[in-house]
Amino acid sequence: MKLKKENILIVDDDINILELLQRHLQSWNYHTYKAISVKEAVTILRDTHIDLLITDLKMPEIGGFELIKFVSEHYPKLPKLVVTGYPSVQESLTAIKSGVVEYLTKPFTKDELRAAIDKSFTEKTKGESSEIHAERNGGMKDEIKKDNVYGEIIGKSEKINNIIQTIERVKDNKATIFVRGESGTGKELVARAIHYQGKFSRAPFIAVNCGGIPENLLESELFGYTKGAFTGADKERDGFFQAANGGTIFLDEIGNASTSVQSRLLRVLQEKEVVKVGAQKAEKIDVRIIAATNSDLKEMIKKGTFREDLFYRLTVVEIIVAPLRDRKEDISLLVDKFLFKYGIEYKDRFVKISPETLSVLLRYDWPGNIRELENVIQRAVIMCDKVIKIEHLPDSLKFNIEFPKDKLLPLKEIEKRYIQKVLNATDNNKTKAAEILGIDRKTIRQKLLE
Ligand SMILES: Nc1ncnc2c1ncn2[C@@H]1O[C@H](COP(=O)(O)OP(=O)(O)OP(=O)(O)O)[C@@H](O)[C@H]1O
Ligand SMILES: [Mg+2]
Repeated sequence: MKLKKENILIVDDDINILELLQRHLQSWNYHTYKAISVKEAVTILRDTHIDLLITDLKMPEIGGFELIKFVSEHYPKLPKLVVTGYPSVQESLTAIKSGVVEYLTKPFTKDELRAAIDKSFTEKTKGESSEIHAERNGGMKDEIKKDNVYGEIIGKSEKINNIIQTIERVKDNKATIFVRGESGTGKELVARAIHYQGKFSRAPFIAVNCGGIPENLLESELFGYTKGAFTGADKERDGFFQAANGGTIFLDEIGNASTSVQSRLLRVLQEKEVVKVGAQKAEKIDVRIIAATNSDLKEMIKKGTFREDLFYRLTVVEIIVAPLRDRKEDISLLVDKFLFKYGIEYKDRFVKISPETLSVLLRYDWPGNIRELENVIQRAVIMCDKVIKIEHLPDSLKFNIEFPKDKLLPLKEIEKRYIQKVLNATDNNKTKAAEILGIDRKTIRQKLLE
């Protein structure tokens, strides 16, 4: 593929948008650079000749507004295209007097993007772009630097630190990695950190939910197909593997891959090549594979539904993401992050959390892990006025009884409380609770009435 001269830098904290933009831009042969934060964008601008900046406005830490100002100061000739969900920002941006700024409102079509890019380039003031290299960083560095944060991963527990150390070891090579953990623990976040912190971060990161694609389509989606491979295959098409070439493919819920997909995967891992559905010839491929699951693959191997040889090929490096209840030191950091996140999302609703509420959060078992914590905080930010109190928590947490440490209780009482605790943790799902407790649903009722 012949690359056009133009280098385009895309800045957005939403990785999906970054990937979408990159796909479109690459289809027009532009050379793309991606940044998920203003900090990263500034680094790229310093090291690379960029011909067009495409940026989002609303980003955590430092917003696109600041970036536009920075670029206008240091790279006055560089054209800027703002992609925003808020058409009203147009006026405020013009007010910066930052030269040419084009706008594109989300959601946009591929044609609208094309038109906006063309306009940005034509309106570009004559002369060389980005020739002035910035000498100073505009005071940004210190603002961005934060403790207990690695990419998007937040945490200070030993478990998180160990994960970060492993990521540091693997991020710059292409060893296959297997991420295991309960639902909502952050497996995808870990996969993204491996890619985006490493030296292949500018190459594509493609996330595939193997459980979300119908079984009969997964194979052709992953590996591509040739013309006539099946009814409806009217032309040859690349799959996710070809799209991820040079970068990372994240195979989420790998336990859902059919036996046929499994044997093709084995071939990719052994031979570093893929064969399109319907093709005879293999294509060489250079992709890092990160697989993840929350199902028990060992159990599946026993039942014969998952290939043992594939399992061992996939688990060259294994990262186990611990459930939140085993790293409660991270809870208050995560609460802060979510308070901030939803403070911004709900337009300056920055609220606090009372110490009693925090201790309820610390006591809870979090069966849905970080995702559940995030939902709880999101809901509480909406429900409360200025401070989150216990009353703003869902029932499962509100009534999470603490076992008294000093007072000794009769067994029946302990039993009752424990049953209640399991019920709370399962959102009152009696079938699930019965399964955990190892008794039937009727017995649960009886015991609670005793
Ligand atoms: N350490 C962390 N710091 C900040 N946010 C986190 C952390 N871990 C998880 N999250 C957030 O929690 C949510 C769930 O994380 P993620 O989707 O990575 O989990 P998962 O293990 O892939 O879950 P599932 O098995 O259900 O797919 C996401 O919104 C993610 O941003
Ligand atoms: Mg996931």
